[in-house]
Amino acid sequence: MNTVTTAAELKSIVNNFRSQGKIIGFVPTMGALHQGHISLVKRAKSECNVVISSIFVNPTQFNDKKDLEKYPRTYNKDAEMLQNVTCDILFYPSEKEIYPEPDTRVFDFGNLGNVMEGSQRPGHFNGVAQVVSRLFNIVQPHKAYFGEKDFQQLAIIKQLVKQLSITVQIIPCPTLREADGLAMSSRNVRLSPEERKAAPLIAQTLFKVKELYATKTIKELSTFAKQQIGTQKLMELEYFEIVNATTLQPADTKGAAGENVACIALRMGSTRLIDNIIL
Ligand code: PAJ
Repeated sequence: MNTVTTAAELKSIVNNFRSQGKIIGFVPTMGALHQGHISLVKRAKSECNVVISSIFVNPTQFNDKKDLEKYPRTYNKDAEMLQNVTCDILFYPSEKEIYPEPDTRVFDFGNLGNVMEGSQRPGHFNGVAQVVSRLFNIVQPHKAYFGEKDFQQLAIIKQLVKQLSITVQIIPCPTLREADGLAMSSRNVRLSPEERKAAPLIAQTLFKVKELYATKTIKELSTFAKQQIGTQKLMELEYFEIVNATTLQPADTKGAAGENVACIALRMGSTRLIDNIIL
């Protein structure tokens, strides 16, 4: 695996591959890699000739500076994991490389950006859009891989590439879970043993909601989910919402399979976790 730290070098390597007709796949990450990230790299490997992964903890998407400071950084282990799945290129830029000057762009994703994570984390998606548009500009991939774990982020990125006419195909990838159901996340390492033990309730609640989906109303399902989370004292629910999978607006009808998604965000101590299930 070739590790590249400058945008100029990466651009010239990619240009070379492109001129040879190679399909470039891209998996952007913030590091602290787990098997969820690796599943994206594997998928890219199966569909592309050259796979580039980036590790960059993007300051502009952290609305909480403490969260940025506490974000786990495990570069050596990450590089080894990427090497093991034969990722071709690791892009590991400095902050100056990505933001030679502060990015003052303000994006407007309409209602997609106002709900759920958008309302709980002001400025978060603006920062995601800033960094992802810059990374796309540097890497110029044919295909870019994003996890459904961050369902709203995926919707925002699809919207971003439309707004900016970026010619990249966005490939959604399913959420990888621990054996007990907990969605893999870089933040899971921050859970205390007690919190970690309680955390599978999030996925269990979502699985149960999916099971009950055919027979209960949306309101009943919301009440059920809120009650379930309410039984766990270590959890402080931020939101549980059943929304349309395309518009992310509250679902009023059930529709066909895959039309809606149940999304949840909660805090356990100082750790914030999100998860979702497509209904
Ligand atoms: P990060 O949280 O590191 O996630 C990188 C990618 O891995 C995202 O597309 C995310 O949805 C995916 N991912 C995370 N957990 C997953 C899981 N359990 N199963 C499958 N995929 C999973 O998301 C970001 O970084 C940043 O916002 C980024 C897009 C890199 C911009 O800074």
